[in-house]
Amino acid sequence: MIDRVQALREEAGGAIAAAGSVEALEELRVRYLGRKAELPQMLRAVAELAPEQRGAVGKAANEARRALEEQIQARAGELAGEELQARLQADRVDVTLPGAPPQPIGRLHVLTSTRRELEDVFLGLGFTVMEGPEVETVHYNFDALNHSPTHPARARTDTFYVVAENPTRPAASPQSELVLRTHTSPMQVRAMEAHPPPLYVVIPGRVYRPDSDATHTPQFHQIEGLAVDEDITLGDLKGTLLVFAREMFGEEREVRLRPHFFPFTEPSVEVDVSCFHCSGRGFLADGSRCYLCKGEGWLEVLGAGEVDPNVYEYVPTTPANAPGYDPEKVQGFAFGMGVERIAMLKHGIPDLRLCFENDLRFLEQF
Ligand code: DAH
Repeated sequence: MIDRVQALREEAGGAIAAAGSVEALEELRVRYLGRKAELPQMLRAVAELAPEQRGAVGKAANEARRALEEQIQARAGELAGEELQARLQADRVDVTLPGAPPQPIGRLHVLTSTRRELEDVFLGLGFTVMEGPEVETVHYNFDALNHSPTHPARARTDTFYVVAENPTRPAASPQSELVLRTHTSPMQVRAMEAHPPPLYVVIPGRVYRPDSDATHTPQFHQIEGLAVDEDITLGDLKGTLLVFAREMFGEEREVRLRPHFFPFTEPSVEVDVSCFHCSGRGFLADGSRCYLCKGEGWLEVLGAGEVDPNVYEYVPTTPANAPGYDPEKVQGFAFGMGVERIAMLKHGIPDLRLCFENDLRFLEQF
């Protein structure tokens, strides 16, 4: 009998090791360990054996049953793992395959790509890029930029004022009044507060004004530039803007500075780039007037100037570790341009509002 137990154990063991699926394994369990199987029946019959045989046969049969149970359990674990692996392999999704039907890849909005191009030009010249708040205090938007208390830009018709949560409670002081910034220039003083000189930064961002027509939208974008060092002159400004003009509009471009007024620069200039459509001639090959520069040969692109010493006075000199912009020691230039204007000139976009209508026929052209 013990031999038979041994033979069953070997036969079942081999079959279990070779079982190829969880179902096949279950069949083997029923065949070798189920109620009607030979081994359990032998175990039940032990009691009827001659007393001198009972111990040895019972022990061998019990051991065989336990060994087979353990083997089945181990093989079940293996098979479950293998089946999971196989299922994972079969179900694998290749996320790099094109959809069905394939979807066209998107693209950057023309204003985003223009902003990034501008950033790249100035990064290449050693400027860093900063950003700042769109809800700004009157202090940074106007006062610290040397605007007189009666400057027309402060008017409620020219600037969006942000009404406090409780409009019956007056602002703590006129300086803590809030506006949607009307330009990126307030970041000039914020940048100086954050970093000691020398400072070379550009600040792109959204700005807001209550205007709406073919060349104005209530929200648009500017990029501000500020360079402060020991003796930064208008010559440095002109050289910097010449690089910008040539990178954005072509190698042949020239820049021209015209006197102007801004409260926070002295002297102030408006900057023109020679027209890239008519090569600055003002007329085209067929003798007709250049539509882009309207025959001028120049395109106005931005405002700029030497930072007014009064602006440095707004950068706090206390506490002792404050950056400190001493107007007797530092000198710099600032400029500000509209990202939309650059994009419109560069791509011949006739109506600014196209930039904000999300019409794919327009967006896909860039
Ligand atoms: N902030 C001016 C505007 O929005 C543009 C400007 C002019 C910026 C002269 C400057 C500057 O930094 O120096 O019209």
